[in-house]
Amino acid sequence: MDNNILYEKVIEDLINNNYAQVDGFFTESTCIGLRDLLLEKEQDGVFKKANIGNKVNAKEALAIRSDKISWIDNESENEFEKSFNFQIDDFCTYLNRTCYTGIKDWEFHYALFEKGAFYKRHIDRFKNDISRKYSIVTYLNQNRQADDGGALMIYTNEGAITILPEWGRTVIFKSDLLEHEVMVSKKDRLSITGWLK
Ligand code: OGA
Ligand code: MN
Repeated sequence: MDNNILYEKVIEDLINNNYAQVDGFFTESTCIGLRDLLLEKEQDGVFKKANIGNKVNAKEALAIRSDKISWIDNESENEFEKSFNFQIDDFCTYLNRTCYTGIKDWEFHYALFEKGAFYKRHIDRFKNDISRKYSIVTYLNQNRQADDGGALMIYTNEGAITILPEWGRTVIFKSDLLEHEVMVSKKDRLSITGWLK
């Protein structure tokens, strides 16, 4: 799909529902490259237990979320991370031009929810740091089965929305507005999550 048509659909959905779900925001080859990189990094032991914004100890954090993460360098020279960052930059430029969003920066990390991992209901904007404007999550799970778990639940005024973490699916939502939750994953769940700031 032409990028501008894709962006317009995302923006329309954000305006109407505060979230958007699209498949194919990143190309197939970018998704494959990023998935392989994620698995390589995991093998290399660079993934770390994720923290939560507020200053709580590791045990408290683990009761809230149990995924592992590895941050992506915005200046990465890796071809797949470069194409990821290029696409994010292109989207931000479009958003800023058409919606005056004033996005100046972004931060993304790979995330791995191993069997049994979850992320309890939360919002993405920290109380002491309001810079996060939009959250973007892209799922990298090929051949996902119906009972694999790990659905993203988004809680809107109209009720709960279930988003399945299917291969190449991207979800975008307002960071300060929507409470959401990652249900227990029954097998490794791969994604890239980040924020436009
Ligand atoms: C997060 C988060 C959602 C998902 O990392 O803050 O809510 O579906 N992730 O992985
Ligand atoms: Mn979140």
